[in-house]
Amino acid sequence: MSGVSDLRADGLAALEFVAQYLERVGELPVLAQVAPGAIRAQLPASAPEHPEPFSAVLEDLDRILLPGVTHWQHPRYFAYFATSASEPGILAELLAASLNSIAILWRTAPAATELEELVLDWTAELLGLPSGWHGHIEDSASTSTLAAIIVARQATGRELVVCSEQAHSSIEKAVRMLGMRLRRVPCDDAFRLDAAALGDLRDAAAVVATVGTTATTSVDPVGAIADACAGAGAWLHVDAAYAGAAMVCPEHRWAFAGVDRADSLVVNAHKWMLTPFDCSLLWTRRPHDFRAAFSMVPEYLRTPDAEDALSLSEYGPALGRRFRALKLWAVLRCFGRSGLQAHIRNGIELAARFERWVADEPGWELCAPRPFSVVCFRLEGGDEQNQSLLERVNASGEIFISHAKLNGRYVLRMAVGNLRTTHDDVHRAWDVLLAEASKLAEASKLD
Ligand SMILES: Cc1ncc(COP(=O)(O)O)c(C=O)c1O
Repeated sequence: MSGVSDLRADGLAALEFVAQYLERVGELPVLAQVAPGAIRAQLPASAPEHPEPFSAVLEDLDRILLPGVTHWQHPRYFAYFATSASEPGILAELLAASLNSIAILWRTAPAATELEELVLDWTAELLGLPSGWHGHIEDSASTSTLAAIIVARQATGRELVVCSEQAHSSIEKAVRMLGMRLRRVPCDDAFRLDAAALGDLRDAAAVVATVGTTATTSVDPVGAIADACAGAGAWLHVDAAYAGAAMVCPEHRWAFAGVDRADSLVVNAHKWMLTPFDCSLLWTRRPHDFRAAFSMVPEYLRTPDAEDALSLSEYGPALGRRFRALKLWAVLRCFGRSGLQAHIRNGIELAARFERWVADEPGWELCAPRPFSVVCFRLEGGDEQNQSLLERVNASGEIFISHAKLNGRYVLRMAVGNLRTTHDDVHRAWDVLLAEASKLAEASKLD
């Protein structure tokens, strides 16, 4: 081991790497341009027998691994949901790893536990949520939703989960893992759950409403769904993994109408809230049901600590919990409400510009309403043509976009959300799309 004596020198080198990386990431190909297996082939098959210096790790990161990195930090990363690990969040990750505070119990990590409760309260207030909800952090929205469904099943004694056709696959996955049943409800022509089609919910353990669906960011009518759940005694879980962050801006709060009546809610701070992956925020207004489902305190974990020395491991599946609150705290303090609002507004404004360019360009069409910072669009023509276009633009290394299927048609998705994305980046994306589309048209004329 290179040891503690090298921490300063190695640390400075690592930090220099980080600073240079963030300065030059915009010049690298967004999507890794490597063949499967190419990275592993350059690395030894076994771990070294003898200690190596940390500098060797840094060198190989730069030379071998970096070409195999798809750059989520790139300003022209527009695929899936664009995210950013901001500098305060990055530094806080380093500090959290240094403390290695593992919150299995309150006494093993009092600061991590209490800070987690505090930052969840802060964030709830920033997003306009009711006061008094209990929040904790999970790794991902998939785990948060799984946890909520486990609690719903236990609280209701029922086995059915209901969500829309546009709900994220994590719901189906949770239902499958739990051996429950899933009913998918059709959507209206704006890809929102059709509340009139919810049907009889007397058998439903939970209904999952989505605020910001994965394909189009559509917003389900949460108020109407809450009415139906209340009438049938079903648990209402709201998946706002992406769009929840936008609620920091009062002008977007319409999308959370009715969320105050949810039993649980997930918002990913690692999506649009400038926090490095992973940091999924899970609130509930029924913490006693969470504790009833997850509390498991074997003898070796029993302590004489008072009841208000809360162990957050009693509110979710994991025993050992990382100090994730530190990075969210750093982000909230270093950006403040105004910084978070500016970030959301910038993403939405850039997406609106892109949407106008598509609307004004003959031969292109918009495919869904745009509530937030994602534009669904396509070339007028066949699915194959759009698929080829996607492959071509992504192979250029200039931009990275993804796709969805809407009403059986292949559509392209442009998701804006990186902290460094500017007007020029979005414009460049449009230029690349136009240029590749015309090359595609030329190529098909020659066929
Ligand atoms: C609406 C929605 N819910 C849940 C998820 C799953 O998120 P995670 O990767 O945190 O599990 C996603 C992922 O993009 C999503 O779009």
